[in-house]
Amino acid sequence: MYKMPGIWVVGLLVVALGAAAAPEPLPAVLLRGWPLRLTCEHRENPLGVGAEQPRLSWWVGDYAPGAVQSAYEIAVASTPEKLASAPDIWDSGKVASDQSVDVPYGGPRLHSEQRCYWKVRTWNAAGKPSDWSNINSWEMGLLAPADWHAKWIAAPARDTAKSAPAAYFRKEFVVDGHISRVTLYVSARGVYEMRLDGVRIGRDRMAPGWTDYRKRNQYLAYDLTGRVTGGLNVLSAILGDGWHNGYLKLEAGMRKNWYGEDTSLIAQLVVEYKDGKREVIGTDDSWSFNTGPILESDLYNGEVYDSRLELDPGGPTWDAPGYNGTRWAKARVVPGPDAPLVAKVNYPIRPQEVLDAKSVVLGPNYEWIYDFGQNISGVAKVKLTGRAGHTFVLRYAERLDPKGGLYTANLRDAKATDRYTFDESGGAVWEPEFTTHGFRYVGLSGVDERPALDAVQAVVIHNDAPRTGYFQTSDPLLNRLQSNIQWSQRDNAADVPTDCPQRDERLGWTGDASLYLPTGTFNYDESLMFEKWMADLRDAQTADGRFTVYAPAPDDAGDAAAYSDAGVICPWTIFERYGDRKILAENYRAMLAWIEYQRKTSEGLIRPATGYGDWLAPVIPGQPAQPTARDLIGTAYFAYTTELTRRTAQVLGNTQDAQRLAALHHDVVAAFQRKYVGADGRLSNDTQAAYALALTFDLLPESATAAAVRHLADDIRAHGWKVSTGFVGTPALMRVLKRYRMDDVGYHMVMQREYPGWLYMVDQGATTIWERWNSWHPQTGSGDKFSDTAFGDVKMNSFNHTVWGCVGEWMYAVIGGIDLDASAPGFKRIVIRPRPGGGLTWAKAALDSPYGRIATHWTLADRTFSLQVSIPPNTRAVVDLPDGKVTEVGAGDHSFEAVLAQP
Ligand code: BGC
Repeated sequence: MYKMPGIWVVGLLVVALGAAAAPEPLPAVLLRGWPLRLTCEHRENPLGVGAEQPRLSWWVGDYAPGAVQSAYEIAVASTPEKLASAPDIWDSGKVASDQSVDVPYGGPRLHSEQRCYWKVRTWNAAGKPSDWSNINSWEMGLLAPADWHAKWIAAPARDTAKSAPAAYFRKEFVVDGHISRVTLYVSARGVYEMRLDGVRIGRDRMAPGWTDYRKRNQYLAYDLTGRVTGGLNVLSAILGDGWHNGYLKLEAGMRKNWYGEDTSLIAQLVVEYKDGKREVIGTDDSWSFNTGPILESDLYNGEVYDSRLELDPGGPTWDAPGYNGTRWAKARVVPGPDAPLVAKVNYPIRPQEVLDAKSVVLGPNYEWIYDFGQNISGVAKVKLTGRAGHTFVLRYAERLDPKGGLYTANLRDAKATDRYTFDESGGAVWEPEFTTHGFRYVGLSGVDERPALDAVQAVVIHNDAPRTGYFQTSDPLLNRLQSNIQWSQRDNAADVPTDCPQRDERLGWTGDASLYLPTGTFNYDESLMFEKWMADLRDAQTADGRFTVYAPAPDDAGDAAAYSDAGVICPWTIFERYGDRKILAENYRAMLAWIEYQRKTSEGLIRPATGYGDWLAPVIPGQPAQPTARDLIGTAYFAYTTELTRRTAQVLGNTQDAQRLAALHHDVVAAFQRKYVGADGRLSNDTQAAYALALTFDLLPESATAAAVRHLADDIRAHGWKVSTGFVGTPALMRVLKRYRMDDVGYHMVMQREYPGWLYMVDQGATTIWERWNSWHPQTGSGDKFSDTAFGDVKMNSFNHTVWGCVGEWMYAVIGGIDLDASAPGFKRIVIRPRPGGGLTWAKAALDSPYGRIATHWTLADRTFSLQVSIPPNTRAVVDLPDGKVTEVGAGDHSFEAVLAQP
């Protein structure tokens, strides 16, 4: 047995604003000599797999220094026993290949519901085989429409113009015989909670998630083997509004029912018996319907729960056997959507952790204000007593106003309020089911006495994606910044990457998602959310090739530079970070269509001056705004997306397309230079964003590059090391600083404590990344109608947006020293190039890449820089030290030392 050193088993120290907090444990990675972390379609032991040829991946577990994989063998069988003796589904045989990521299953065509057990072994460079891995499994979903025997059901006809009560459905069924396997498949237009015999099925929230339900409906699968027992069982469901029927504020306005009038449900329980018989219990008109205590449920507005309307006061519960359901109505069978049911690709939304309140104080209006110390996405969980008929109210806010009350003006029209009415029992243990809020503070009113500190907790709810990145330094402020970045990423992962989790918006804004993604891939596994969300983008793409500004887009959301380009940039970024070619293949046609749209609607290959420009570039007191021209931004992105599409064509082997795109790219760059670059190599638009875009997208003549880099550095210095860039310019700028090794400039900027800067937010007590550089600033805040404060413009001021978090990529690469080598996607080749600076005395970073864990740890004492690096098996790394020495290394642990010219 062997533990990869360089990996902190004991844990990291999380420091909040100088105060030591609980250590953050980093799970150890044990290399035992056989493959580990087996995944199918990027998940461990998934159910309901929709891919015809599921992709299998593993980490090579060889702990020998320099270990590589020279060959692999995958075996797949219908039972673990057969896998051990004679695999009856597929045996790849020994394949001479170093591929250990996304190897497509290559056996006979898989059928619906097929369960596959699999294992893998690898050979090292000397031809010695490893032991077989542990056994993993996957199960195919329902691959054809004909596999669905259940019908879509809804409440009997009712008025859904306002928030309708949640629909409750139940179905009793009897099974007898010896059961071998039970699987449940569920989808909904709306959001469901499923139960079997009174017990919740799974931990998913807001399932099945958000798509354009007119184009595709996701279904999930649950294994109920062992839970469905012989005799009487009850399968039941509660159905809330969700995105299908709840309020959504889109460009076309705020309303509900964007996708149709009714919530509806489809559920199919497949019971298999040991004698080979099968039984299917599906939703149909034999299910019964009722309403219950959930009177309203809305993403923006919250949930209303009246426990006096509990369906089963005293007796057997409505969702369990033995309940008298004779007074329930018949469920209504409704026509299914024209859109297909598709296996859910993304990680489901689930509760992640429960936070205790740090304090509770009495605020204005007799509201008890709980502070959780962290801005999150989720709901409150309460344990309270009260008199029958009395209602307590929970309101949510990210910030307090100057009087100590909840600051809710920035939530705009989202009521973000949950209400609960007590019944005779006088006790409530409750958390809302079909809503989430963005908050740090919860205000509780309507209680008679001072509530206990532990009466209200906060449940963090978001995509259940595994964490992949760890970053820690000797500077507590920088650590807080990293924590804020990770929190904003978590809080904005709600099946789609959202812009914000709190106000009446929460849309899959394309600009936000793609501008943050390169950092996001360091912190959490983004591969599945983006595989799924790209389908949302394609669903929203118009016939003439326009990608929209957000997706899903039930209205006509329009297009914009740097936003719509997500349709090209995101697949490419996922390919680069995870080595995933499928995402390129799936999106290729759509990418070509966007390029063609841009070509057709440009004038002389210059894009029109539309869109959002360098959105939210900071307001500097006493300085005139310095906008970056919108046509320049658009044309820069046109060139960039053409180049990425060309590379995609090349990867996919479409040589002719690649040549055509190369020519177009050449022409767009030429047009850019003609219009924006002077004879002296200067840009006509002298902003940091313009230079950053031109440099990062390679739009300048080579002769002008060095001067442009110098000019940019001078300009940043002249700005006192402060950003002057917005959404578009900031990520580009940080990339330029990394690429042109302007490490010192980068450190100055990242560690800037004055406005506008990253640590300014941290100094103001931010626990997430703000939407604006001045979301709160005494001189530049615009005040709002409720109070004369330093809050940014209330019309649009979230304290939980991802985009400024784009600095994280620079932090991982330059401080942590972990970067990718784009020539070998998926971190097959790694660049280790840590650069001390900013007064740091140590830094640690780790990334669980597709090949395994990459880890660095450096310390600086006087002039001695010591570095420890772990490189995973089957990869190689270039280690570039601060003294200029460059070494290439293979897998294993490596120590380096460099003596610096200056301490
Ligand atoms: C969102 C932004 C988004 C923008 C487009 C806002 O309402 O919150 O993050 O990029 O609209 O201008």
